[in-house]
Amino acid sequence: MPSSESIDYGTPARASEALVTVEVDGVPVTVPAGTSVLRASIEAGSNVPKLCATDSLEPFGSCRLCLVEIEGRKGFPASCTTLVEAGMRVRTQSDALARIRRGVMELYISDHPLDCLTCSANGDCELQDMAGAVGLREVRYGFDGANHLSARKDVSNPYFSFDPSKCIVCSRCVRACEEVQGTYALTIDARGFASVVSAGQDGRFMESECVSCGACVQACPTAALIENSVIERGQPEHFHITTCAYCGVGCSFRAEMRGNEVIRMVPHKDGRANHGHSCVKGRFAWGYATHKDRIRSPMIRKKITDPWREVSWEQAIGYTAAEFRRIQDVYGRNAIGGITSSRCTNEETYLMQKLVRAAFGNNNVDTCARVCHSPTGYGLKATLGESAGTQDFDSIGSADVIMIIGANPTDGHPVFASAMKRRLREGAKLIVVDPRAIDMVDGPHVHADYHLQLRPGTNVAVINSIAHVIAQEGLLRESFIAQRCEPQAFATWKKFILEPRNAPEATEPMTGVPAETLRAAARLYATGGNAAIYYGLGVTEHSQGSTMVMGIANLAMATGNIGRAGVGVNPLRGQNNVQGSCDMGSFPHELPGYRHIAEAKTRSLFESDWGVALDSEPGLRIPNMFDAALDGSFKALYVQGEDLAQSDPNTQHVTAALTALECLVVQDLFLNETAKFAHVFLPGSSFLEKDGTFTNAERRVSRVRKVMPPLAGMADWEVTAALSEAMGYPMHYESPAQIMDEIARLTPTFAGVSFAAIERLGSIQWPCNAVAPEGTPVMHVEEFVRGKGRFMVTEFIPTDEKVNERYPLILTTGRILSQYNVGAQTRRTANIAWHDEDRLEIHPHDAQDRGIQDGDWVGICSRAGETVLRACLSQRMQPGVVYTTFHFPGSGANVITTENSDWATNCPEYKVTAVQVMRVSQPSQWQERFRRFSEQQERLVENRKAVHT
Ligand code: SF4
Ligand code: SF4
Ligand code: SF4
Ligand code: FES
Repeated sequence: MPSSESIDYGTPARASEALVTVEVDGVPVTVPAGTSVLRASIEAGSNVPKLCATDSLEPFGSCRLCLVEIEGRKGFPASCTTLVEAGMRVRTQSDALARIRRGVMELYISDHPLDCLTCSANGDCELQDMAGAVGLREVRYGFDGANHLSARKDVSNPYFSFDPSKCIVCSRCVRACEEVQGTYALTIDARGFASVVSAGQDGRFMESECVSCGACVQACPTAALIENSVIERGQPEHFHITTCAYCGVGCSFRAEMRGNEVIRMVPHKDGRANHGHSCVKGRFAWGYATHKDRIRSPMIRKKITDPWREVSWEQAIGYTAAEFRRIQDVYGRNAIGGITSSRCTNEETYLMQKLVRAAFGNNNVDTCARVCHSPTGYGLKATLGESAGTQDFDSIGSADVIMIIGANPTDGHPVFASAMKRRLREGAKLIVVDPRAIDMVDGPHVHADYHLQLRPGTNVAVINSIAHVIAQEGLLRESFIAQRCEPQAFATWKKFILEPRNAPEATEPMTGVPAETLRAAARLYATGGNAAIYYGLGVTEHSQGSTMVMGIANLAMATGNIGRAGVGVNPLRGQNNVQGSCDMGSFPHELPGYRHIAEAKTRSLFESDWGVALDSEPGLRIPNMFDAALDGSFKALYVQGEDLAQSDPNTQHVTAALTALECLVVQDLFLNETAKFAHVFLPGSSFLEKDGTFTNAERRVSRVRKVMPPLAGMADWEVTAALSEAMGYPMHYESPAQIMDEIARLTPTFAGVSFAAIERLGSIQWPCNAVAPEGTPVMHVEEFVRGKGRFMVTEFIPTDEKVNERYPLILTTGRILSQYNVGAQTRRTANIAWHDEDRLEIHPHDAQDRGIQDGDWVGICSRAGETVLRACLSQRMQPGVVYTTFHFPGSGANVITTENSDWATNCPEYKVTAVQVMRVSQPSQWQERFRRFSEQQERLVENRKAVHT
């Protein structure tokens, strides 16, 4: 099976509008100016052999296999590095060409192990193909002379191996690392015969800058760089196109299979979000799907100290329905609720909220977006009229100024970070607003023009000051504002923003950002051409998260940077389907498509379709559910694919609330931290077992295709439907496609979305309807979704979470490339080779003050709690600020985060916690309790008894 489903044209497509016609082997072909002769020849249907060229990389011209004859030119030019010229007549086959090509191949093969039959790449090797294509029958040179056949393999990377004996030094890997990934980890060391691919200084991949994205492996034409899974299990036999289940980039992949077994995931060249690129998680970290920890049978128990009983699906669903009804009979209709998952498909999420609204009879449904991007929904809806990012990812290719606020793209959204880096290498300017020196501030061939290294918690003061400079220095785009925005709201905002207290000189003492730097960054944003803002959880997870989102939207409107390619306001969504879970009506106050539950017209549309009366009162948000559980009015919760006990702030409060429930139902792949408090466990299915759609950060709806049957026997949507039926509200679907048809029927922005339409178009960016039948890459083009854009006054109100003598440092949190969120998936893969514990990053000055050395155990205590981590001294931090990740449950990062939250949406203030840090010699009391409880719960699962009836 070929590793690429489509033709490799040898060099990238060119976008020029000027067209050139040439003749190749007598066939006329018209291509954009700047196209290579190689590409034109392949487009004309000629078979030109090539080795160093591939259409994801710029041509290099080293192998000399693609030589052609061009009428009127001397010699045999390399077609990959020769550009088409009007009227050119090209010949790709002749006796002379055949002779030269055979000679080239002979040289390659004379220094290559002839073990094709036992080689892992047998059947998927371009060298093998080219030997056949040029008709090589004999090799005149023996293996007696100098060769590389016994060169040592590098097996340091857990996912792929490098065998120099199979390397033809084509440089494709080096160029992929530079051009596609932007990491520059590889070089060709030495010259001539001694040339060898080398990773970093020491030459080994694991000790180099390599981030294990796999681009080099994909580019390699031989078995020199190859996936270990292919070496171990053989070449794949068939494939399915599906979508990554990690981050909001939503990369498209070919799941390459043998039977029901995934052999490798190869980024899909035609994937519109990733264009054939990937990161270590999507490319390699999928082994968790069949990890031994997967729980494959439903389980129930009366109390959380009881052993689990393994039961049939019928028993588990019957028991759950009976418990939910019993609790509603005793405590009232509102005593139960459900949590949807941003890991699950749109169709599964839609059914979950329907279950709550139609079968539970209330609106107690919420989603993990509560703790990440709920302020995005609120802020963008209020200003622009739609709760979503404004652009497609490709828009970055037209940006002249990129502003990254509170996001760490190289770790959180790596494939998009590569696209950003490419644009920066082309000359775009970069402003980074972040308390920490993230990789984008200073990396290979990327350097931020301005890094506004603010104090955590002062985002709004910074965005106001940027706007102040723009207004004060006459840089507002007045014509855009007059035409597109509400005049009264703008006038009010302008008066507010020009107040002297918003000047950078006035905010500098609070923010720590030098006024002159901020002024220069503001001027660049306003005058540097197309300016695009990309932001992340460093914006939303604050007490003023929604205010900051509105401040960003204000800035884009004030400078006219909205409504075309290269500009916009772009939340980098965290989880694979967080956009989708919000779109599908997962919030307690909104039906699918962000329509308020109190709107009688919308409600009646759903009521008549669903055949049930809906409650017009918004339900409980997650923090309200916890509070209600503790005060005794909320008694049962169905949690699908979310680990509340690890991911929500103030862990001790959360676990107390979970313990107070009479029936906690968890549907997941593993016994996660929340499941340790559960009474019913329903095994969930991984993305490889799912059929449906995910929606990425650019509103792109893509298919997730089932490549193997659900390991527990039931798809997640079937479980929800069965539970609904058991509760007396039958749902009638035969497939997820039918669920999507219902979503489209009831949601105007999805009216044109169907599985058939996605099949035809590859993927669709909503809104997709009669106005935009093929979707909407860029929103707010002619007018804002809400009509006129609305400027909002964004008063800076400092958080209540203040440093003082007792808690003198600020803790902020974030993610790392190799691990993912609560780590349930990535911790069960070889990704732990890069990151096997959460550490506390601390500035050397703060460490020195406390006598802390790198690697010491340190206690971190806040007003909410205390935990212990190992210290990592880092200049990335500013003095006074410490940082940690939250991928390992035993780290207890959320034991210390507080219950402070965004004023509008209750999104927790994860990014600002006042703490003290000191050297310690033992785990915290919480960690000790956690360890004992976890061991007890794991024993209860290990000792489960099957009681199928
Ligand atoms: S895996 Fe990616 S980062 Fe590592 S060397 Fe290859 S292309 Fe570069
Ligand atoms: S490792 Fe593969 S891609 Fe890199 S130079 Fe060798 S043959 Fe070419
Ligand atoms: S960038 Fe995100 S979507 Fe793409 S492969 Fe990595 S984790 Fe998956
Ligand atoms: S493919 Fe053109 S020189 Fe290698």
